[in-house]
Amino acid sequence: MEVNVKTGPIQEQVSDLIVVNLFEGVEAPGGATKAVDEALGGRIRQVLQSGDFKGKKGELLLLYPGEALPAKRVLVAGLGPQAKFNLEVVRQVSAKVAQKARELGVRGYHTVVHGAGQGGLEVAEAAQALVEGAILGLYRFEEYKGQDEEKGKQVEELTLVEFDEQRATQIALGAQAGRIIAEATCFARDLINQPPSALTPRILATRAQKMAEEHGLQYKVLDENRMRELGMGALLGVARGSDEPPRFIIVEHNADRQDLPTLVLVGKGITFDSGGLSLKTPEAMLTMKGDMAGAAAVLGALRAAADLGLPLHVVGLVPATENMPSGKAYKVGDILKAMSGKTIEIINTDAEGRLILADALAYAAQYKPAAVVDIATLTGACMIALGREAAGLMTEDDDLAQRLTAAGEATGERLWRLPLWEEYRPYIESDVADMRNTGKERWGGAITAAMLLREFAQGYRWAHLDIAGTSFVEDSKNPYRPAGGSGFGVRLFVQFLRDWA
Ligand code: BES
Ligand code: ZN
Ligand code: ZN
Repeated sequence: MEVNVKTGPIQEQVSDLIVVNLFEGVEAPGGATKAVDEALGGRIRQVLQSGDFKGKKGELLLLYPGEALPAKRVLVAGLGPQAKFNLEVVRQVSAKVAQKARELGVRGYHTVVHGAGQGGLEVAEAAQALVEGAILGLYRFEEYKGQDEEKGKQVEELTLVEFDEQRATQIALGAQAGRIIAEATCFARDLINQPPSALTPRILATRAQKMAEEHGLQYKVLDENRMRELGMGALLGVARGSDEPPRFIIVEHNADRQDLPTLVLVGKGITFDSGGLSLKTPEAMLTMKGDMAGAAAVLGALRAAADLGLPLHVVGLVPATENMPSGKAYKVGDILKAMSGKTIEIINTDAEGRLILADALAYAAQYKPAAVVDIATLTGACMIALGREAAGLMTEDDDLAQRLTAAGEATGERLWRLPLWEEYRPYIESDVADMRNTGKERWGGAITAAMLLREFAQGYRWAHLDIAGTSFVEDSKNPYRPAGGSGFGVRLFVQFLRDWA
């Protein structure tokens, strides 16, 4: 979608649709809404007096101005109560507006930036949130759907209108960032939503390569032979059951800049998790094409880091494989030797994510990173603990925890910390190897998984994000997060990186 910024009064725009807003409970609108209301001879106030429109969050009022305005339609968007107003409201309302515009068959619309006036938000941030909400709200995955009337309706142009020249400059900056970040999120969503047979490790690597070339990132890939040379026995063990060969994908932003701090992002790239010989039930397997959502978040974040030109050296590591049962598959009772030299007893082949991450975390050490953050659809236990509203955050580093939590609050991709205490270490003790790959009991499953990762995340600052609950939307409640892959992690990482820079 094309995003533009224009200076001038919203009521003078020649457009198929102009959008203004209203806080809940306001009887006499101000600012741009007032200007439009006056041009309409008080029609907005009339509707407010009737009580038919209250300005509740996401509530929309559509008016046809006839000759009163050069615009064909006016949409008043409810922002909810002013006391509860924030960037998340902007994203959600913007998504609703964009969806309404599409439903109306509008190809382009003009809007004021919600929150930039009365709302008291930082203008660039409000513009970013508005653009993010619109692009994320309009996202659909329709590669495999036939042509129908809905598919033909596309909003192609979004114009942010601001009266004040100076603020328009800020809005342009925010809008540009918003477009980059939202498009990177949609890129991640596309990868997640792709059927598993259409996104094998090799195809994921090809997609990453194409993206890297288009966005000026350095791309490298390790094949099975290279993995064997490096001793990545954990990743290779998981890959053994599949006819599809594994790939280890490396994407770098500012690869040649030794002067910049290095941040490494590691994403779980299980392109399909059947559970392996510890086979999942059909219900549990249903969303397992999304078991590479961590990988998608990392690749999306790298893409945005490049487009934003962040002054950091960012490395994205993606261990990618299927987890399949077969005559060649790794077995329960097997002992795998990871790249670090530590051995892992396999109790359950469905606890495969931590194994492939173990090798990726060991590989990360060579970059001498300022910090490493991994992101993974790692455990059902995390989903049970936190539901779908927050991802699990596990780290022993309070400063990293604080930075990631703050990035989560700012983006609406929220995190909740779980402990990583030494007391949990006995849970993964093994009689025959350095550790076992699942806890001795079910309890605290998100933490035992992280405790295993901790054994391999040595020599640098590290945090782990478990996105099992937030990566895949089954029943959409948030207008900018439609059903399917959410792209959770892209916006969080970009915020984290921008704050670091
Ligand atoms: N990919 C799953 C975790 C998952 C579950 C992600 C639900 C998204 C939604 C992971 O590989 C897995 O199967 N974990 C097991 C671990 C258990 C065997 C210790 C789990 O959570 O059941
Ligand atoms: Zn699994
Ligand atoms: Zn998995």
